[in-house]
Amino acid sequence: MTVSSVWPGLAVLLAVALAFGCDDPLRERTIVALGPEAAGVPPGPLHRAGQPCVVCHDGRSSAREFSVAGTVFVTADAPDPAPGVVVELVDADKRTFRAATNCAGNFFVEPADFAPRYPLFVALEAGRYRIEMDTPVQRDGSCASCHDDRTSRSSAGRVYLFGTPRPMDASGCP
Ligand code: HEC
Ligand code: HEC
Repeated sequence: MTVSSVWPGLAVLLAVALAFGCDDPLRERTIVALGPEAAGVPPGPLHRAGQPCVVCHDGRSSAREFSVAGTVFVTADAPDPAPGVVVELVDADKRTFRAATNCAGNFFVEPADFAPRYPLFVALEAGRYRIEMDTPVQRDGSCASCHDDRTSRSSAGRVYLFGTPRPMDASGCP
């Protein structure tokens, strides 16, 4: 006998709880799967490069809430961070917000500064160079929810600036 034959409503309730969560078990599992902090990188602006920041920074824990956050790499196929990149965000109301990446390639936006109405259009700029994401983001504030470190059916690969390596100005970075 299946659970749903005992009480059809239970399966639906479970699905809703997983999707929206009160005590969200999916969120917990996602966070556990991200693993511990990397050695030598304290929780802070430079940590967890390439990870889906807003999974944790969602206002439901001690981690400060971000509306949009992620990591930009120099190229798609190496883990070299791209510092000093402007991340241009334009929301459905045509409001533009620009954030800059730090030495880990990380950027993060607080809701008080910019809480976009989706869809959200994204572009990267470094000097006069510009690269745009063709399709807008529909709701997820974490770039890495789609941009993982491997291109696959479920991932668009890293967020990267250049097709081929170019030197970046990393002056001021440790
Ligand atoms: C696995 C959960 C998790 C992920 C993923 C994560 N963080 Fe954090 N982050 C934390 C925690 C926990 C803290 C420490 C909060 C505290 O001090 O209580 C923190 C702290 C920070 C801080 C300092 C906040 C403050 O109040 O000063 C920044 C900035 C930050 N993270 C940025 C990022 C960025 C950018 C990403 C993605 C590239 C990211 N984090 C990914 C959990 C996470
Ligand atoms: C919902 C999934 C999703 C999210 C979230 C997402 N992206 Fe993308 N991104 C894609 C896909 C798929 C592509 C490739 C197709 C395209 O350009 O639209 C892409 C392409 C890009 C490109 C262009 C790459 C190229 O070769 O032209 C950039 C730059 C980019 N994304 C940056 C970002 C940044 C920065 C964020 C976070 C603010 C982000 N993306 C969030 C799915 C996503």
